[in-house]
Amino acid sequence: MSAGNAPRDPLGRTFGRHAVSPEERRARVRATFRAVAPRYDLMNDLMSLGIHRLWKRRLVGLAAARPGERALDLAGGTGDVALALARAGARVTVADPSAEMMAVGRTRPGGAAIEWVEAEAEALPFADASFDLVTVAFGIRNVTAMDTALTEIRRVLRPDGRFLCLEFSTPRRWLAPGYGLWSRTAIPLLGALVSGKIEAYRYLIESIGRFPDQSRFAEIVRAAGFDAVGWRDLSFGIAAIHGARRALRRHEEGWLGRQDSNLRMAESKSAALPLGDAPAPTGATPSRRATP
Ligand SMILES: C[S@@+](CC[C@H](N)C(=O)[O-])C[C@H]1O[C@@H](n2cnc3c(N)ncnc32)[C@H](O)[C@@H]1O
Repeated sequence: MSAGNAPRDPLGRTFGRHAVSPEERRARVRATFRAVAPRYDLMNDLMSLGIHRLWKRRLVGLAAARPGERALDLAGGTGDVALALARAGARVTVADPSAEMMAVGRTRPGGAAIEWVEAEAEALPFADASFDLVTVAFGIRNVTAMDTALTEIRRVLRPDGRFLCLEFSTPRRWLAPGYGLWSRTAIPLLGALVSGKIEAYRYLIESIGRFPDQSRFAEIVRAAGFDAVGWRDLSFGIAAIHGARRALRRHEEGWLGRQDSNLRMAESKSAALPLGDAPAPTGATPSRRATP
């Protein structure tokens, strides 16, 4: 399927490999995170061999929150990204439907400085233009109505505000067999041994497999009304950070034209720019990919 034909809610009627109604999906996702919350952080370290910490650090680096900025960490879970944004001086709100996940985050050092709000991405209880920055780490794959969620993210961002989304993605072809083997065998096994929730970790693997690749997801983000959408691969595409700005006026300006931007990425068809470099001419960007 071409990027232009990407469905905007690609996972909304699935739960892993199962076809389900959106209502059932929503209930099952909630039950999943309720069940895994106590062991979620430990499992993340084991499954990714600690690499998720580097990915999140990269996300927070790209976000470049300035002291006093208002940041929303959506699907913030146990607060890894939110706590790092707060350490950078941002005023941080986490929104997540899982009280159980957020309860873990609240008790972490620095957790008391964060505002924790029980809410779904599809219906954010915040006024228009409330935030300078919205981050989502490994959360967008779990929402049911992705298109609605992206529209909500755009709504709560101030004009010129930035959106960064870290998610599992499509790895390079040469990596796929080894990565597939690890995913299908080690991760469910770890899930069973450490958390006793093998089904939750099967869902994780299956939902990753169904998530759109880098370019299709960029197209979905763009279709939701963001400008200058781009991405950066992590660990050879196992994960990717997508980013966009809510332009001052729709279609007015993209990252490539912004000398002051901390967040410069190429238009999606030309892959990622090394951040911090001078902007490259549009369309002339070589594909350079980062690994943490
Ligand atoms: C894999 S965890 C990610 C947590 C955290 N961002 C991290 O990176 O460690 C996914 C989170 O998405 C949340 N979630 C599920 N459905 C959601 C929805 N519709 N809107 C917002 N968050 C949702 C879950 O409760 C869970 O905390």
